[in-house]
Amino acid sequence: MQRDIERVLIDTDRIAARVAELGEAIARDLERDLAEHPEPGEPTILLIPVLTGSIVFVADLIRQLPLKIRLEVVGVSSYPGKSMESKGAALKSELPASIEGAHVLVVDDILDSGQTLDVLTRLIGERKPATLRTCVLLRKPGKASVDVKADYVGFDIPDEFVVGYGLDYDGFYRNYPAVATLRPEAR
Ligand code: IMP
Ligand code: MG
Repeated sequence: MQRDIERVLIDTDRIAARVAELGEAIARDLERDLAEHPEPGEPTILLIPVLTGSIVFVADLIRQLPLKIRLEVVGVSSYPGKSMESKGAALKSELPASIEGAHVLVVDDILDSGQTLDVLTRLIGERKPATLRTCVLLRKPGKASVDVKADYVGFDIPDEFVVGYGLDYDGFYRNYPAVATLRPEAR
């Protein structure tokens, strides 16, 4: 794996520090939401990670949230196989049943064309969550073709294809611990 890596863009220390900051900001906002929308019964915070790219990020992020939360994953396909271009997004699984009235945070690895978050926020919005926010580890500024924004962004990165910390190329390199580019020979 290491020999396929060209350049580390964001090392593990920077990722960890930023994930802690994101966790603080998210927890602060959710605590305020809970205070502002008192509901009968127990209020639900529902994290919805997008498979598969967000798994490493969300595993670290939830351990920075000192809140009572639920977690339910969704599958969205956008970059099948070896393609590096977004071909539109499609939901590959059912949405969680418990969205209505919940404080929902969608977590994804990267905001690129914006198709994934656009599709998801529309569908989730129709289910009447109390609040709906989005969080991505990475964003490629200026790339989004649709008008979709993330509420929490870890890092803005140049328009380069990256792998690691959950992001893949053709299913590989998700376990590389940092965010890095691939050597041309590996693509
Ligand atoms: P969007 O729908 O175009 O915003 O893209 C979101 C999805 O595309 C992400 O969840 C990733 O799976 C994938 N993606 C976009 N850019 C990259 C990249 O640089 N490396 C790996 N996957 C990417
Ligand atoms: Mg993905």
